Amino acid sequence: MVSREITKGIFWVGALDFDRRLFDALIPLPDGTSYNAYLVRGSEKTALIDTVDPAKEFELVSNLLKLGVERIDYVVVNHAEQDHSGSLPMILEFYPDAMVVTNEKCKEFLIALLQLPDNRFRIIKDKETLSLGDRTLEFHLTPWTHWPETQVTYLKEDQILFSCDLFGFHIASSDLYVTDDASCYRSAKKYYAEIMMPFRTSIKGHLERVKTLPLKMIAPSHGPIHKHPQFILDAYSDWTSDTVKNEVVIPYVSMHGSTEKMVAHLTNALIARGITVKPFNLIGTDIGELALALVDTATVVIATPTVLFGPHPQVVYATYLANLLKPKARFASVIGSYGWGGKTAETIVKMLDHVKVEVLEPVMVKGQPDEATLKQLDRLADEILKKHREIMIV
Ligand code: FEO
Repeated sequence: MVSREITKGIFWVGALDFDRRLFDALIPLPDGTSYNAYLVRGSEKTALIDTVDPAKEFELVSNLLKLGVERIDYVVVNHAEQDHSGSLPMILEFYPDAMVVTNEKCKEFLIALLQLPDNRFRIIKDKETLSLGDRTLEFHLTPWTHWPETQVTYLKEDQILFSCDLFGFHIASSDLYVTDDASCYRSAKKYYAEIMMPFRTSIKGHLERVKTLPLKMIAPSHGPIHKHPQFILDAYSDWTSDTVKNEVVIPYVSMHGSTEKMVAHLTNALIARGITVKPFNLIGTDIGELALALVDTATVVIATPTVLFGPHPQVVYATYLANLLKPKARFASVIGSYGWGGKTAETIVKMLDHVKVEVLEPVMVKGQPDEATLKQLDRLADEILKKHREIMIV
């Protein structure tokens, strides 16, 4: 990919990864991703903001060489994760005068992950500025906008925020800027669900600071640049708010059809009560789609058969992941069938220790759901409606 000029003296010099299908060996990337790095030329100094995944390090170097960049004074590292920092060793070798500009915690990570030498660092503190001559970089520490060392960099004169993971989304697009707000919204929300949702409370605080900065653009490290920053800022305000929607997400697995019948009955009962329902058969579900549904939902009902003495392993995986993602859901329950016993519902409820939910009475049945079971599911639907009314989302 060739470099592109954003405004005079500021260039996108990153890499597009059309073929990548998994991030962190976990997150599906149906549209690939990009690793955005930016070159900022000041009248006296030149800074590179972040690098790229090591698999693409030659593309970054090639972009810089084609631009005739003979000297880099500063490499700003906003985040130590290797998709942004992994090409640092090569960049530092190519540009022997370049200093790595980052915060103390990020330096610790970079030394641990990349074995960089101590004498290549220039440590900055929160709100510190760095002059490039006629341009000024201002650093804002934003811990837990993925990792604890993350920061964002604000280019004052041009009013551009280099936000690294924050406000990004996974897509390998040849568009330099966001061109379709609707498609950006869905991708960015999915990315928020997968990467940022566990840190909702921290991000809420950082958003308040970002909103005080005059902004013409937000240039993240994944996906196209936001030329209308208010759009993504408003979206983040909504996703990180405490407001939930009148929705029920039902991740489920069924082995011989009993749990599936229960899910179908509960789904219909909830729809009849005016509640939006999103069932996910975990055999074949894209985990990213499930995460996306968890952003707003008020209630999660986990549906599982009993395998030997506990929940189905696919359900255990999804529950473990949902617990890590810490959605703002208020209520949860468990439904499913069993053959000869076990503690399936108790096991699932115990797994939800990071999620602050009120647990509604589970519905577990031996074998096929009978009339009595279906009535229990109707009562669960009634209870969910009552709870949603209590928090005034119906
Ligand atoms: Fe894009 Fe947390 O790395």
